[in-house]
Amino acid sequence: ADPHSSAPENLPLPPGSSGLPLLGETLDFLRSSRDFAERRRRQYGPVFRSHVLGSPAAFLLGPDAIQWIFAGEGKYLKNRWTSGVRRLLGANSLALLEGEEHLERRRLLAPHFSYATMRGFVPAIESLATRHFERWAALPGDFTLWPSMRELAFEIALSLIFGQDTVDVPFLMRHFQAWTAGLFVPLAVNLPWTTFGRALAAKKAMITYLDQLVAERQKRTEQPPDLLGSLLRHREGEEPLSREAIVEELQLLLFAGHDTTVTATSNLMLLLAQHPDVLQKGREAVADLEGPLTLDALRAMPYLVQLIHEGMRLIPPIGGAFRITTRDVAYNGYRIPKGWMVPVSIRMAHSGEHWPAAERFDPERFGSERNEQRKPGTFIPFGGGPRICLGQHFAMVEMSVMLALLLKHYTWELVPGQDLSYVMVPFARPRSGIQLRMRRRS
Ligand code: HEM
Repeated sequence: ADPHSSAPENLPLPPGSSGLPLLGETLDFLRSSRDFAERRRRQYGPVFRSHVLGSPAAFLLGPDAIQWIFAGEGKYLKNRWTSGVRRLLGANSLALLEGEEHLERRRLLAPHFSYATMRGFVPAIESLATRHFERWAALPGDFTLWPSMRELAFEIALSLIFGQDTVDVPFLMRHFQAWTAGLFVPLAVNLPWTTFGRALAAKKAMITYLDQLVAERQKRTEQPPDLLGSLLRHREGEEPLSREAIVEELQLLLFAGHDTTVTATSNLMLLLAQHPDVLQKGREAVADLEGPLTLDALRAMPYLVQLIHEGMRLIPPIGGAFRITTRDVAYNGYRIPKGWMVPVSIRMAHSGEHWPAAERFDPERFGSERNEQRKPGTFIPFGGGPRICLGQHFAMVEMSVMLALLLKHYTWELVPGQDLSYVMVPFARPRSGIQLRMRRRS
């Protein structure tokens, strides 16, 4: 019999503890979500309950559970962001829309994110990346990778959205950074001196600026074929999208398309610096590369994708996501009541029993011989189901271009003595921000 089909009301709650009143087990969860889940898995098995971030929660571990969660979107689960994220992102953006509205917005944006569309972006990404890399390599001393990579990724995201328009990059970047700093604060308190308060103020400045850009665009009779153009041409029935909705969508895309790729590429550069044998293989993979990069040239170097995938497996840029049950539902002989949170632990999925020596950086595991990612639900850096990352092709192409250029033309070394221990929230980043010295090699 299907273990999920029995009537939930007759089933017991999953084993586990609700911890302290109000706080539940939140502090333990925030300290290290992976140890948190691992310890409880040993005690209770792969399905257990807890109480974290203000909500009762059912943790469902393992690839089959992951598949069940992704399949449940819109049926028994919906997306759930933390309150800080909900207040900073607008309610009209893709990430917060649900049901039909969500599907329709995805249909509108999808053409800009298809693999084929990426063909046109490769030259822009190559030229932006080259400009930044050349600058880093010409610095007399060392530099900190993280903020430098943020500038580069931000410019790339802007070019996706605004095409050829001129944008005040430093202005937007400054406010964007203050805004995103507030997204993952533990307590969202709006006062002028709190990180969250400053984030809301920055959001206002950013919205005013973006709103002007959109208004300028609206005056044109013809829209260029960029993402903003599509949002402006779109009609829901007779109605165009409101300017407010468009601005909120732009903000979401800047946010979603930015720190994620920064995290993936920066950590990969660190891993390569620490694994000279892998770096050497990477250099061999790009040895024959000549002339401007194209999608076809990238496709001819599958080892690049192996490197990026293994980097994201080991250090997932987004460590997890949250869902919430929309009705009582049965899972594996347990009842999960309506309104419970169901975390999706990407980090746990990437270190389970399907990954031999999971702590090792070993890109060969993604090669056709070993193919360790073959079981669905074991490799999910971009999530899955109807909410799978909209920008996954864009991200992969962007990261592949950067990596090909880095391997082909540059060397980089870690500055000795830096603190490479990780902070995990909001994004997995070494405390030093990764201090490098970079040089041109050819
Ligand atoms: C959603 C990962 C880059 C746009 C997601 C989700 C994950 C993810 C895990 C699903 C969250 C959930 O299930 O609740 C990543 C990673 C990236 C990356 C690892 C880079 C290495 C990008 C880029 C863009 C983008 C470049 C756009 C320019 C989005 C959007 C969503 C999303 C709009 C929300 C989709 C929806 O709710 O329907 N991403 N992402 N992402 N991502 Fe990405």
